[in-house]
Order: sequence, then C-alpha cells, then structure tokens
Amino acid sequence: MSHLISKVFTPSTLDLSKTHDESRQGAAFQPEENLSGTTPTRSAYIETYGCQMNFSDTEIIASMLKDMGFGFTKDETTADLVLLNTCSIRENAESKIWNRLKHLKARKAQNPAMLVGIMGCMAERLKSKLIEQEQLVDIVVGPDAYRDLPRLIEEAGDGQKAVNVLLSREETYSDIAPIRLNTNGVTAFISIMRGCDNMCSFCVVPFTRGRERSRDFNSIVQEAQSLFEQGYREVTLLGQNVDSYHFEDCSFAGLLEKVANINPLLRVRFSTSHPKDITDEVLETMARYHNICKFIHLPAQSGNSRILELMNRGYSREWYLEKVNRIRHYMPDCAISTDIITGFCSETEEEHQDTLSLINEVQYDAAFSFFYSERPGTLAARKYPDDVPEEIKKRRLAEVIELMNVLSRQSNLREVGKTFEVLIEGNSKKSDQDWCGRNSQNKMVVFPKGDAALKPGDFVQVTISSATTATLLGQIEK
Ligand code: SAH
Ligand code: SF4
Ligand code: F3S
Repeated sequence: MSHLISKVFTPSTLDLSKTHDESRQGAAFQPEENLSGTTPTRSAYIETYGCQMNFSDTEIIASMLKDMGFGFTKDETTADLVLLNTCSIRENAESKIWNRLKHLKARKAQNPAMLVGIMGCMAERLKSKLIEQEQLVDIVVGPDAYRDLPRLIEEAGDGQKAVNVLLSREETYSDIAPIRLNTNGVTAFISIMRGCDNMCSFCVVPFTRGRERSRDFNSIVQEAQSLFEQGYREVTLLGQNVDSYHFEDCSFAGLLEKVANINPLLRVRFSTSHPKDITDEVLETMARYHNICKFIHLPAQSGNSRILELMNRGYSREWYLEKVNRIRHYMPDCAISTDIITGFCSETEEEHQDTLSLINEVQYDAAFSFFYSERPGTLAARKYPDDVPEEIKKRRLAEVIELMNVLSRQSNLREVGKTFEVLIEGNSKKSDQDWCGRNSQNKMVVFPKGDAALKPGDFVQVTISSATTATLLGQIEK
C-alpha cells in the first residue's frame, strides 16, 4: 500500500550495531560492548511491530534484558531468546505475526532450546490461544507485565509455559532508563503515559493496553534532560492521547513547557493529539516556544458527523474544523497531519465524500489512511455489522490516498523559496554527500553538505529550491 502508511507500521528488528532507517545512517550509535557492562552469557533477538509506543517499550525491555545478562543479536538463528513485540490494531498486523510464528516453528524444531516470547498488544489480546494453538510459544507477556520478564524467562527455561498478561492501573516504567535502539543520536522518543480511556468503537487499544495513566513529570523531564546532555536535540513525547496527560496539578501544556524549558536547543514534539481534548492552553504554549515544533498529528478518522458518532470519537465534523481553525489562529505556520479510516460500518458513498471534502478543506500536510478492520471485542464489533464490502473499503482508501498524494505534493511545493531551520539527523538515504533532517513542521529536507563543518545534531538554515511528494530539497543559507 501507500508509502503514507508504511512509515509507522513496518516491523523493525532490534539491531544494535547498525540502523535500518537509512536516513539515519552516519549518526552516532552505541556499539554493543557499551550496552553490556559484563560479557553477556545469553543472547536475545527482538522484533518490533506497531506504533511508536511499542518501539518505546522495546527500549525498556532491552534495558531489562541487559540487566539480566543478555546480549543482543540481529541474527535470530543464534539467539537463545526470540521476542516479538506485537500489534493488534488491524487484522493484517496480526496475520504478519502468525506468519512469523510459523517460520519460527521450523527454526525451533532445529533448536528446541531456543525460547520464543510474544509481547505487546497481541499477547494481551490472545493470551492462552498463543500458547495452546501455537505450541512453540514459551512466553506470553502483556504491555504492563514486563517487570516480570526475569521470572517468566526462568520458568520457560525450566520447560513451563510462562504467561503474564495482567494489566495495571499504575505501571509507567518511569524508573527504567530505556536503551536507545537504532538511534541516530539526535532524536528520541519518551513515553509520557500508557493506556487509553477513550473507547473509540473501532479500536482495540483500550483492551490491549488498559486504563490510561500518566507518568511522573519529574522522571520525564529527567529523561529529556539526560538525552540533551548526551547530545540529543529532539524528543517526541508519546501517548495514545497526550492531551489528557495529567500528573498531580501538571497538565499536558504544563509538561510541554517544562520540557521546552530544558534548553532552547532541545526540540519538542508530541503524538498523538485527540481533537476533542487538545486545548487552547496547549496551542498557546506551542506558539510561545520556538523549540516546540509546529506540527500536530490530529486524527480525524472520518469527515462525516454520523460516522464520527458511531465511532464514538466525541466530536463532529464542525467541531473538528473549529479545532483546525484554532490551531491556525495560534500558529498560522503549523503543519497538520491526520489518520483516516475508510469503509467503517454502514458508511455510505456520500459519507465517504464528506471525508474527501474534509481532507480538501483542511489541506493536510500528511495522512495515514487505513480501511476498516473489525477487531473482536470492540464496541463496533459488538454493535454494528461490518457491512461495507472489502473492495469498496479499498477503493475508498485508494481515493483518500490519491487525494492526499496531491495535497502533500502541493503542500511541499508551497515551501519552495522559503527558508527553514533544519535539525540535521544524518546522511540522506540516497547520498552521503547530502544531509537530511526535518524542519519544525516535520517535513524531511535534503541538502548538499558543502564543506561546512556541520554534523548531526546541528541546526542549520536551509532555503528550499524544489520538492517531491515526500521531500524538500534545498541549499544551506550562506
Ligand atoms: N491514539 C491514536 C490512534 C492509535 S491507532 C488516536 O486516537 O488517534 C492509529 C490509527 O490506526 C488510528 O488513528 C486509526 O486511524 C487506525 N485504526 C485503529 N483501529 C483501526 C481499525 N479497527 N481498522 C482500521 N484502522 C484502525
Ligand atoms: Fe484507540 Fe481512540 Fe484510544 Fe486512539 S483515542 S488509542 S483510537 S481508543
Ligand atoms: Fe498496535 Fe498496540 Fe500500538 S495495537 S498500534 S502496538 S498500542
């Protein structure tokens, strides 16, 4: 499918020696020896699927495994422990994992001592089915039970099946220092909360990740401060609904301000905002700080108020458009991206047209779009028939993607002639003669290095000379 959705939901192998994202090549990364104080006695291989929260969890899990004496390998054939950190968001996310498990079954037949564990959202959703149906899975551990990994790994090593999928109302792993994986040494993610209380009717997340809870702001600020001291220049604050962050009397706007105040050279981003919860206070704070990036991911899901009601999103088309107006009022230069679901239960052709017209009206800078996939146990699965035929869902998706490609291109072409502050992340994908980095609006900018003594982590002014759908091309401002 489109490149628009591939960025967030591609699987990635935990790989400590080199990065998979070529755009990040050339940046600092930690060699394996530095990660393990003592010589590791066992080796682990981790594969991560799904959203940034899962990638962030893998960094926490890696930290725990390291404390247990594990080293890391990128070769599953030599691993003592193979862990898959999984996603349940759509059916095809889960089918990818079932296929991987079939493959691992053959591997395990050759090496019965190898332990296989399923972590993350699928572990939570499928629990014993994974152990009973797929005899090869030794460990099943849900997103709130990672502290139990030492016991579970030991139990599995003794030949028992080890399961812990208990959800928690408190766990935030706030005291665990994540190991930064595949890092470019410049940008990093920080989890600020876990779970979700929203109950959008299509969504499995509240079931797999449990109740919403916010992490102590002191530990968030400490983590960001320590990243800054290590040379990082951008942090992204992560949660399923960051706007409902609250710890003691600190709201999300307060947290943004605390992190932005660490240093003007530390950029701050966040994801994901919920249109019903993002406040003027957040927008006003963003506008006030140069280092809070002018970019908001504001998932609409649909442009039709009846469908939004069935989705239980808590806003109408008009309310959503008013939010977009508020954003533009505070920050005329703010980029906005979205998520769209096509073919939700009972969606008519006219209602789909409303989604296309919303996209046109907002003029998004980017979008991630999906066709509706019914998830067992969700409100929609229980209440509404999944009655839009698959070929119609897919045709509507293709229309959304086509329109978005046109808009992304137009949005990029509008930038030609402008000068942006860009944070250098590393060599460009195509050439080590070019740098790549992002502007505040989250657009990827590629430009020749020239002979300036620049390095990843530096800010530079770049004037845009041309653009493609995905990238801005420019030159360093002399
Ligand atoms: N917390 C975020 C969303 C996390 S899931 C938010 O509220 O925006 C990421 C995206 O996956 C969602 O925004 C939605 O567009 C899509 N998605 C979630 N469940 C889906 C389903 N059952 N079928 C298709 N797409 C789905
Ligand atoms: Fe799912 Fe809605 Fe929560 Fe996002 S806000 S994770 S879509 S329930
Ligand atoms: Fe997937 Fe779980 Fe994230 S279902 S999208 S990994 S919260």
